[in-house]
Amino acid sequence: MITIDNVTVGYGTSGFVTAVDGVSLTINDNEILGIAGESGSGKSTLMRAVYGDFSTGLRIKSGTVRGHFEDARTGHAIDAPSSEFGKLWWDQISYIPQGSMSVLNPLMKIEKQVIDGLPDRERQGGRRALRQRIVDFLAGFGLEENVLNAYPHQLSGGMRQRVLVAIAAFVNPRLILADEPTTALDVVVQKKILLMMVEIQRRQRNSLVLVSHDMGVHYQITDRLAIMYKGKIVEAGPTAEIFANPQHDYTRNLIASLPRLHGKRSADVVGEHA
Ligand SMILES: Nc1ncnc2c1ncn2[C@@H]1O[C@H](COP(=O)(O)OP(=O)(O)O)[C@@H](O)[C@H]1O
Ligand SMILES: [Mg+2]
Repeated sequence: MITIDNVTVGYGTSGFVTAVDGVSLTINDNEILGIAGESGSGKSTLMRAVYGDFSTGLRIKSGTVRGHFEDARTGHAIDAPSSEFGKLWWDQISYIPQGSMSVLNPLMKIEKQVIDGLPDRERQGGRRALRQRIVDFLAGFGLEENVLNAYPHQLSGGMRQRVLVAIAAFVNPRLILADEPTTALDVVVQKKILLMMVEIQRRQRNSLVLVSHDMGVHYQITDRLAIMYKGKIVEAGPTAEIFANPQHDYTRNLIASLPRLHGKRSADVVGEHA
């Protein structure tokens, strides 16, 4: 799906400050890939490079990020560098940026923000039909229609985030990038959102990249895990193997700093929920 090959990414128009340093990583079809690492290790920068969002002054200095998709209507293969991913946004690729809950406009009802954000083709059958499809989709995750009529402040943080996650998935993208989607939420709400993301991935069979500094989150739902430290990936592999047999001191420390591994791995979590 995505091939990241020896990519160095940073910021700055005059100078260049490296944030991601020579990273190689593959995002496979139909998997949940976790990115872990402490604050400032380059997780969000890597996500922006994969999304192809260069609006923040981000620059790929060397290396490549390439995506391999299939046009849903024509069936034609799409093979493109991330600089061209903009045309795949909201179609093949959805992105839930870090701090996304605060990007909602407080003065606008959720419905308007959601519908305005979708690509024009979704509105072709008329606004009412689109609204109904959104209502049906939200209902699939236990979200009631009235969340659409609310202003952001009328919803709890967890509810807002669940709506954002649902909307990111509504277009059935092949790749969902979620940057710290559960950070700052309490454990019970976190778990609901994680379950929802696992369910989306199971239903849509797409690729989910989940960025979190919280190793407990990765333990619960990711299939594979990459550990970032100071802009580099120090270790990557199946999540269960990394937890069972961490190779790098930094990874060992991250695991050791978990208070206690509670919850279960995703198969059990989903089974429990069903
Ligand atoms: N928009 C930006 N402009 C300049 N530097 C940035 C920007 N965003 C992040 N950085 C820097 O890049 C490095 C990696 O940050 P980031 O990717 O946000 O890490 P993480 O998501 O792991 O906390 C940090 O040193 C940070 O200060
Ligand atoms: Mg970040």
